[in-house]
Amino acid sequence: MKNNLLCFLGLSIIGIVSGDSCSLEISPSRVVVKFGDAVTVSCVASRPVRVLGWESVIAASHTQRDLSVQWRVDSLTDWIEEPICYGVFFTAPRQCEEKLNLVLYKKPDSVSISLVNHSSPVVVGKEYELQCEVQNVAPVQYLVLRWYRGQTEVYNQSFSELSPATPVQVSSTLLIVPNRADDGAQYRCEAQLELGAEGPRPLPTVQSEVLHLAVQYPPDFRSPEEQILDISEDSEMVLDCTAEGNPPPVYIWTSSNLQEMVDNQPVLTAASLGPGVYTCTASNILGKKSKQFLIKHKSKGV
Ligand SMILES: *[C@@H]1O[C@H](CO)[C@@H](O)[C@H](O)[C@H]1NC(C)=O
Ligand SMILES: *[C@@H]1O[C@H](CO)[C@@H](O)[C@H](O)[C@H]1NC(C)=O
Repeated sequence: MKNNLLCFLGLSIIGIVSGDSCSLEISPSRVVVKFGDAVTVSCVASRPVRVLGWESVIAASHTQRDLSVQWRVDSLTDWIEEPICYGVFFTAPRQCEEKLNLVLYKKPDSVSISLVNHSSPVVVGKEYELQCEVQNVAPVQYLVLRWYRGQTEVYNQSFSELSPATPVQVSSTLLIVPNRADDGAQYRCEAQLELGAEGPRPLPTVQSEVLHLAVQYPPDFRSPEEQILDISEDSEMVLDCTAEGNPPPVYIWTSSNLQEMVDNQPVLTAASLGPGVYTCTASNILGKKSKQFLIKHKSKGV
């Protein structure tokens, strides 16, 4: 387009100047436009021109009278648009051009979080990959992907090394080794476009759904040590074998004194428990643990 015009004017395109000595000023010099929105940018020459114009695939324009020309689009949807303002002057430097710093952006269509090759529940102490997938975002070099556990940001990833202007799909992974405290943890990720001072506020943001992590772990007693209890006449014996575990533990009691097998009861309560050793075993699919209770006659003289 511009080259045709320059041929028509019989000028050489050698020696095009840009920068300070160019006598062209683009205003605003940087524009951030949402996909499909309108945009208007002016280019002003500070000395007499033969031609002043915009080179643009979708909205070329020029003037031979004015010192100002506008680049105007009602709905910008062209990802490869790179408008350049050019001026052809009567005096040296005879040709100038300035590129518009144009950022066309689009929020992601979706942001999704998942466990790679797995579904909840996970097992304590093993390594898992969480993946966050962002669909159709542009320009990706302004994207920041943030990972949250609850309200806390645990990791972020930028994509500034990538260069495409067109929408792309990107993903980020987070390695986790869950512990017991992670049971019930809520993970999510968030895609945010940080488009600079000229960009919109609040920042264009899309959040994933929440991933609820369920963590399985073997039974563990709050107080694992052996318990010694004295038989007393007026109070009941309470043998508390409650263990924490996921899935919830199943309990089995054994003792030479127990006539019947007591099935799946974390707490034994009875006035009639005789002296002896009672062993409780808490188990789930990940393991089992035992705890002993020793019931004694109250020693005389104490
Ligand atoms: C997930 O599974 C696919 C195929 O089953 C395999 O190619 C890929 O390497 C696995 N990824 C991870 C992180 O284990
Ligand atoms: C990403 O995380 C690092 C370390 O936690 C932090 O210093 C940095 O400011 C974060 N970057 C962004 C863009 O939030």
